[in-house]
Amino acid sequence: MIVRRRAAVAAVFALSLLAGCDRLPGKPKESQRPLSPAQVKSFDVLYTQNCAGCHGAAGNFGAATELANPAYQALVDDATLSRIIRQGVPATAMPSFAQSAGGYLTDAQIAILIDGMRARWKSGPPLKDAPPYAAAPGDPAQGAQVFARSCASCHGPDGKGGARAPGSIVDRSYLMLVSDQALRTLVIAGRRDLGHPDWRQYPPGQPLTAQQVADVVAWLAAKRPRFAPGTWQSVSTK
Ligand code: HEC
Ligand code: HEC
Repeated sequence: MIVRRRAAVAAVFALSLLAGCDRLPGKPKESQRPLSPAQVKSFDVLYTQNCAGCHGAAGNFGAATELANPAYQALVDDATLSRIIRQGVPATAMPSFAQSAGGYLTDAQIAILIDGMRARWKSGPPLKDAPPYAAAPGDPAQGAQVFARSCASCHGPDGKGGARAPGSIVDRSYLMLVSDQALRTLVIAGRRDLGHPDWRQYPPGQPLTAQQVADVVAWLAAKRPRFAPGTWQSVSTK
């Protein structure tokens, strides 16, 4: 009796092998199996898992650069996007994502992120007469005058906060966490999500020149504490 039952069990098992393992109950279908990280090809998944925490779920209202801002997408070229995503920005919270730089996104995934951002967030023709994305630092003394003319109305006379922008933009900890390029990007492309103007609107109809952008960024950057070599002692108390 027992022997016959064992034979029956073995026969059912052999049949199930013949029928193919996919017929076993509870086994996930191909489409239900989890992908290994390198197989993910969806922009939404890649963006949500890797970028949304800092740049916002829809590319805005995050702590870092508003990637969904069309003015930003028009300002920055593909090569720059690729370099920053691959290598990150040293001494800031922007991580490096390329496997060659210690990250875990493949080159194909980085290309999907760039194409996806362009398709979703770049609209309209390239910006006319915008200051260039990158440039050499300007003159902080001139920048103080640009600040008084173009920024103080919202940020207060010394940048420590005003009625329309209460946060201090000369806070030492804030300035130590952002690069000069991030400040430059903000001044040119603005942040629509925060109500921050772009270079054409300081005030409206009086766009900042490339020189004024470089100067006001230099004024802000000069407020960043500098450290004596090899120590954590600040040599600048500005
Ligand atoms: C842990 C937070 C964090 C994550 C995660 C993050 N970023 Fe960033 N990102 C930043 C910060 C902060 C900056 C500004 C760096 C600086 O000061 O230059 C930045 C800058 C950038 C810039 C350059 C902006 C400019 O000025 O041109 C791009 C492009 C960018 N991030 C894309 C991405 C993408 C795409 C992802 C996901 C693959 C991502 N970031 C994930 C924090 C983050
Ligand atoms: C129309 C008002 C307005 C003007 C003019 C303006 N800003 Fe702002 N700015 C804002 C608002 C609103 C915020 C976000 C709220 C806050 O930080 O208080 C902001 C934020 C910032 C930040 C912090 C950005 C971040 O990532 O947190 C910096 C830096 C800044 N502004 C620089 C400038 C500079 C430089 C100028 C002049 C060239 C300027 N702003 C002119 C309204 C303005």
